[in-house]
Amino acid sequence: MELAVEQSITQLARSATRAIEPYVWEAASHEIAARYGIDASQVVRFDTNTAPLPPPCLTSVLRQVEAVPDVNEYFDSSYASLAQALSEYTGYAPENLVIGAGADEILDIVAKTFLDPRDTVVVPTPTYSMYRIVSQTLDVHVQTVPSRADLGFDVDAIVAAAKNAKLIFLCNPNNPTGLTLPTAEIARLVKSVRCMVVVDEAYAEFSGESALPLVRDEPRLIVIRTLSKAFSLAGARLGYAVCAPEVVDLASRVRPPNSVSYISAVLGEAAVRDTAAVQANVSSLIIEREWLAAALEELGLPVTPSSTNFVLVKLPSAEVAAKVHEACLSQGLVLRFYDANPVLNSYLRITARRRADNVRLIEALRAALS
Ligand SMILES: Cc1ncc(COP(=O)(O)O)c(C=O)c1O
Repeated sequence: MELAVEQSITQLARSATRAIEPYVWEAASHEIAARYGIDASQVVRFDTNTAPLPPPCLTSVLRQVEAVPDVNEYFDSSYASLAQALSEYTGYAPENLVIGAGADEILDIVAKTFLDPRDTVVVPTPTYSMYRIVSQTLDVHVQTVPSRADLGFDVDAIVAAAKNAKLIFLCNPNNPTGLTLPTAEIARLVKSVRCMVVVDEAYAEFSGESALPLVRDEPRLIVIRTLSKAFSLAGARLGYAVCAPEVVDLASRVRPPNSVSYISAVLGEAAVRDTAAVQANVSSLIIEREWLAAALEELGLPVTPSSTNFVLVKLPSAEVAAKVHEACLSQGLVLRFYDANPVLNSYLRITARRRADNVRLIEALRAALS
């Protein structure tokens, strides 16, 4: 009886929803701790590309929120104060910004703003899977464009694929490869196509390369940023788009008016204004990334050149990658493994964390490989 009810509920769902392959995460920390009988404090997330510590402004912001505990009210839906801070940070007016609950929500808003069912979007792969998911949610056809053999984007193939497309999703620097396309190539891409071009710059603070200056002259370009990585605020859920005012106007018709919480908005503003803390975080993670890359190369494992806060490392085979992933997981060291992806299943993606954690990981890898 129960099964029949469950089946009919599935049948009531949209066919587009039923067809979606869900986003895949590694297991939650408490599950890993329980599975291997280890203390939760021993679990280190090398899989989420987040920062090792909260931002230094956290304590003062929590005090500020305690003094003015307005959580019983809806917050200003323009997030004016946060928008002003982001305006100063990006050099664009608040009229050029769409703010939301993480880059993921911004991707969803952009998709809802531009895509009709049966439109085509172009997604160069391998890349972040939410581009596929937000598109499939709207019954949009996802045309993938495979990378070159060195995992870099094939811009000419992207241009060719975009001939009849409504929009291109491009991740720069790319997750999971860590590779960056130069801004001049983004400019060439935008000029060579007629559709919208969305550049997800979740890791731009680590690369120093950005398409932001192009937005002023290219109304078809949307640059998406997040506060989850360089700003150490993944749990606060904050992201934004920099785009033409016409795009902001259209997006405001579909965006949820209050998806950013009062506390997150205050925290985001303080973190964006604390430029010294962001620079310190970025510089130290670049040092850790390079330390990890050198240590991995020393273990005989090739590393893709990265301009992010993570590295993609190649294991000798998919079997070895699976074995190493499991050996690390059993000690609470969580790496990102792509077992279902034939292009990536011999790779592991590793987020740079604090030195002591990185040393612990390298020792675990050395043992697993020997
Ligand atoms: C390329 C890319 N875009 C977007 C996101 C999601 O960002 P947010 O936490 O702001 O939703 C991630 C998270 O890993 C990412 O790697």
